[in-house]
Amino acid sequence: MAKTSADLIPAPLSVEDTGDRTFVLAVDTALVAGPGTEGVAHWLRSTVGTALARPLPPGEPGAERAVRLRVDPALAPEGYRLTVADSVEIAGGSAAGVFWGAQTLRQLLGPDAFRRACADPGAARGIGWRVIEDAPRFGWRGMLLDVSRYFMPKEGVLRQLDLLAAHKLNVFHFHLTDDQGWRIEILRHPRLTEVGSWRARTKYGHRASELWDEKPHGGFYTQDDIREIVAYAAERHITVVPEIDLPGHSQAAISAYPELGNTDVVDTAALSVWDTWGVNPNILAPTEDVLRFYEGVLEEVLALFPSRFVHIGGDECPKDQWKESPTAQARIRELGLAGEDELQSWFIRHFDRWLADRGRRLIGWDEILEGGLAPGATVSSWRGYRGGVEAARAGHDVVMCPEQQVYLDHRQADGPDEPMPIGYVRTLEDVYRFEPVPPQLTPEEAAHVLGTQANVWTEVMQGQGRVDYQVFPRLAAFAEVAWSALPAPAERDFTAFAGRMETHYRRLDALGVGYRPPGGPLPWQKRPAPEKMKGGLGRPIDGSPPNV
Ligand code: ACM
Repeated sequence: MAKTSADLIPAPLSVEDTGDRTFVLAVDTALVAGPGTEGVAHWLRSTVGTALARPLPPGEPGAERAVRLRVDPALAPEGYRLTVADSVEIAGGSAAGVFWGAQTLRQLLGPDAFRRACADPGAARGIGWRVIEDAPRFGWRGMLLDVSRYFMPKEGVLRQLDLLAAHKLNVFHFHLTDDQGWRIEILRHPRLTEVGSWRARTKYGHRASELWDEKPHGGFYTQDDIREIVAYAAERHITVVPEIDLPGHSQAAISAYPELGNTDVVDTAALSVWDTWGVNPNILAPTEDVLRFYEGVLEEVLALFPSRFVHIGGDECPKDQWKESPTAQARIRELGLAGEDELQSWFIRHFDRWLADRGRRLIGWDEILEGGLAPGATVSSWRGYRGGVEAARAGHDVVMCPEQQVYLDHRQADGPDEPMPIGYVRTLEDVYRFEPVPPQLTPEEAAHVLGTQANVWTEVMQGQGRVDYQVFPRLAAFAEVAWSALPAPAERDFTAFAGRMETHYRRLDALGVGYRPPGGPLPWQKRPAPEKMKGGLGRPIDGSPPNV
């Protein structure tokens, strides 16, 4: 029979209409949870059940007109089959598959199913009969959130996890440390948060702006907060990959513990948590003491995050201080290294081994290729496809997140109307046409592309509203790229996707997401004069640099 999409996002593999009858979710509809699906049942009751005033009481296996959940190992691990007939059945290859099927059921039930309480208890809740078969294209479907540049209080992080789950994304890359703030409590080094989690003021806008927000900004997550976030994510079948960025992006740590920096060339005791944007010259010193310090940090991180992958950054590490530092130069000679790039590799290799000894895997930004890639390393390819191609050809795993395509801090339209128009112009359609697997890879090399993630750097996102605006609607397009079996970019049916987005905007409305309106932020008035904008943000209107 003809396929009906029901405006699902991300699009499933197949939808088959099985008649013009309707399943009605009633106040007494039972929920029958097979072994291993109790967590999904809990999620369905507490979200969809609450939103629609359908309590979904537990039912006996033989209950009629029920919603049934079961694990069927014959299906792909994250795949599911959703059958809507006299009963609804979600069979998943694992609990995760059942959960993604439950997300699809929520979409089928209409935008009201995305509310936190029931706005219309009397409304009929019917779904037409159909069978949906589905499974993801990639196992790594992620989003990075930078909570260093602007702290996102825990409630916002939990909400973000709900939003990822609603889009069938399963990796939350938690960028916890940077020059502008250290956000995770480390018990053995309390100054990391006592000193490193607050800054006195903040550059407002692009790094070239002359404006300052003259207020302290900061915050951090306690270890109990982190446990809660990790558990909340796990209930949603999302893995939290922590990032402790080193040896660059470390000024917040150095301001807390000046001995971590290159004290022979800089008065690190005079440093404070950085208050502006860009690439920072204050990097870690390549000493045994610094290695021991970060091993201590990572011991606590490993105890908190069960993720197999641990991200150690490795990006944007200017080597000027190492060039000048007698200590660093002595280290290079002592280790027989060719120069500063190899010194960075030595740093990364140390943690590659250290993590492997503890059953974990190191992942880092593509700069870790410079000076030689550590044997077990996986690469986050952000400066384009090139690093990912090189790593995959060398037999390393790769997560594709090129800034030219999937940096969601970058503006969504040309001209001055975007609130903070930095970076490349990347529209909803551009993201929809992003292809994570570079065509030059052989199938064997392409198998190293674990998947893809969208990165949300927050230099110009002071709070949740700004994050919502930058992330949505583009994350919906990204989710379809990461999950669905789409054709080659030029052949993708963006018009059909945009049509389905009409329904998806109603879901986002019900969720309370402050997305960029489809027509732009100021559809009813003329653009402000460019001169005014220029003065306000201190950045060129045209030819803005690709990164902040
Ligand atoms: C990065 O954008 N510096 C990974």
